[in-house]
Parts: sequence; C-alpha cells; structure tokens
Amino acid sequence: MRILGIESSCDETAAAIVEDGDTLLSNVVRTQIDIHKVYGGVVPEVAARSHIEVVNAVIDQALTDARLTWKDIDGIAVTYAPGLLGSLLIGTLSARTIALQKNIPLYPIHHVEAHVYANFITKQAEHLSLSLPKEQPKFPMLALIVSGGHSQLVLFKDHGDYTLLGQTQDDAVGEAFDKVAKILGLPYPGGPSIAEAATKGDPRAYQLPKAKLQGAYDFSFSGLKTAVLRAVQREVGVDTSFPSFELSARLNDVQRANFAASFQHTAIETLVDKAEKAFHDYSPASVVIAGGVAANQELRTQLQERLPLPIEYAPMQLCTDNGAMIATLGCFYAERMRPISPLSLEVQPSLSMTHTAWHTS
Ligand code: KG4
Ligand code: ZN
Repeated sequence: MRILGIESSCDETAAAIVEDGDTLLSNVVRTQIDIHKVYGGVVPEVAARSHIEVVNAVIDQALTDARLTWKDIDGIAVTYAPGLLGSLLIGTLSARTIALQKNIPLYPIHHVEAHVYANFITKQAEHLSLSLPKEQPKFPMLALIVSGGHSQLVLFKDHGDYTLLGQTQDDAVGEAFDKVAKILGLPYPGGPSIAEAATKGDPRAYQLPKAKLQGAYDFSFSGLKTAVLRAVQREVGVDTSFPSFELSARLNDVQRANFAASFQHTAIETLVDKAEKAFHDYSPASVVIAGGVAANQELRTQLQERLPLPIEYAPMQLCTDNGAMIATLGCFYAERMRPISPLSLEVQPSLSMTHTAWHTS
C-alpha cells in the first residue's frame, strides 16, 4: 500500500510517499524558516500564504521523486489537527480536492501522533540517504513527544491504542527553547541555535531550577524560562523593569554560551528524569523520542546513558515537521480505519491526540 502524506500545520509545507508503513519512497520539505526569521517567530497569516504558493509543487515533487503517478497512490493522509488554522486549511483543502477529483481514499492524521511514526521508517528508496533505524519499535512503546507545541509522555500498547501518562502544564519544551533563545539574542528557531551555542558553553555555569509537579510524568517549562530571564538580569546587573529585548546586547559570547548550555542541560535532564521514571514504572519493550526537540543531540545522549535498553533514533530530518511521518501513520491508519469523505473533513486546530478517530469510533 502506498500512501501520500501531506503536512502543512505550521511553517513547513511537506509531502512524502511511504509504502507499507516502513519504506520511504520520497520526502519533500519546503521550510519557511527564512521567511519567519525576521519576525523572530511564525506569523500565522504569512505561513498560510506561503503554504498556498508551494503546496502543489511540493506534492508534484513527491510523486516525481518517487517515480510514481497518481494511479500508483492508494491513499492520501493529511494533517487535520492540531496546528495553525490557516496553515491546516491549505494542506487539508489540497488533499480533499485531489481525493475527490482522483477518487483516492482520504485519511485524517493527528500531527503529534504522527511525529512518533517517524520512528517506524526503516527502509528507503535508493535516491534517499537518511540514516534510519534498523527495526521498527516494539509494543508496548514509551514515546517522549517533544515539539514546539507539545511535551508528552505516551504509552502505546498498539497502533491507535495509547494512554497519555503526562504532559506539560504550561509551555512546551520547544517553546521554552525558542523563548530562551530570544532572551539570549540567538536566532529563530531557538532549538538548533541554543544547541549550537551550548557546544561552546559550560552546562554547570548557572544553577537553574527543575519544576516540582503533582503528576509524576507532567512537565512545566515556564518557570525555567523565567529563571533564565532573572539570571541574565542579575548577570548583566539590571532589575526586572529593564526591557527584556535589550538584555541580549549586554551579554558577551561566553555568557551567552554558558546560559545556552545551562538551560539546555536542565531542560533535557527534566525530560529524561520523567522518561526514566516511566520506563521503570511501565517496563516498555521500546522507547522512542519524537518531535522537533528529538533532533537535540544532548537529549539523545542523556536518554541513552540513563536507560538500560538500546535506543534507535530516527534521523534528525524526520524529527522536525515532514510528510513522511504523516504518510507512515497513514499506512497503519488505512489498514484499520475507514477513509473519511473529502466533503466532510474539517480541520481541528487544538484537538488533543487522545480525542482522534481511533478513540471516538
Ligand atoms: O515538531 P516541530 O518541527 O514543530 C512542531 O510541531 O512544533 O518542532 C519545532 C520545535 C521548535 O521549538 C524548535 O526550536 C525545536 O523543535 N527544535 C529543537 C532542535 N531542533 C528543533 N530543539 C532543541 N534542539 C534541537 N536541535
Ligand atoms: Zn511538529
């Protein structure tokens, strides 16, 4: 079964084709990072307009790269939740139109759940050269999902059968990376630029707090972000009324690198503490990480050091937003669920992954 996956929930327009839930035939990602960089974050209206400009070309390219035509495609999987309303509309309207016109079954995919499925891609067409895991994860599978909008620990018993163990009570971890990068004067997106600056810094230079929460597997990153802000204010000798956007100009490169390293170390250690506890409490057969922050090398290293089972990580390119993860989940979904009518698919900008069709049908 060959599924075309279409993703447009935030600032990447992406399309990919996956065969039988494990083989990547093409993977096209058009990022808008350069467009949003000047604003220091994603501007929703600009994102939606940029998706319109490239979506058809991205989909065509996915077919061309896979050397396939529409008659080779058995289903279209598209992100319908969660994400930016205008951005989601472009991907879903494109998918609905093609499904209707070409009479191809259409499957609605939850973006956060799909991030986990980047870990199920173990084979690829010759023209691709990703460094992929050798085997698919086994169930029960513990998934640490860490992106710009989500921080969750989820226990999967099977495809579509999972329990949310814990989640962030305020900011997502990727959001904390992005906000701390702004405080430090590092470019958007904050995750990669903090990781880069941190390689030259001392992770023990500043003592930063870890949040204590009631839920054993819940997270909180808003306090850590504020702690970085206060520590920077103290370091440069200003009080809390000083405009935060002027702080970074007073930091030198050594201080900036030390703050990046100290923040990254504490944020990642918090994630790994909770993942380690869940591992010991639930004894999963495999552990996966998913979402943009899963591209973080410090997370990969700390997690492998602390857990007693070998972890196969998905390549960095499949951790940030892409169509391959949508198509892969689409394959498993299509085997188990009926397609949705192209006329009735609606976007759901804030739907939780515990309320998808798996759980309501
Ligand atoms: O999954 P994603 O591409 O989009 C969402 O669904 O949110 O995740 C984007 C997030 C951003 O917050 C970005 O700063 C973060 O992932 N990120 C990283 C790294 N690469 C991307 N965070 C830490 N280290 C990285 N290397
Ligand atoms: Zn994402």
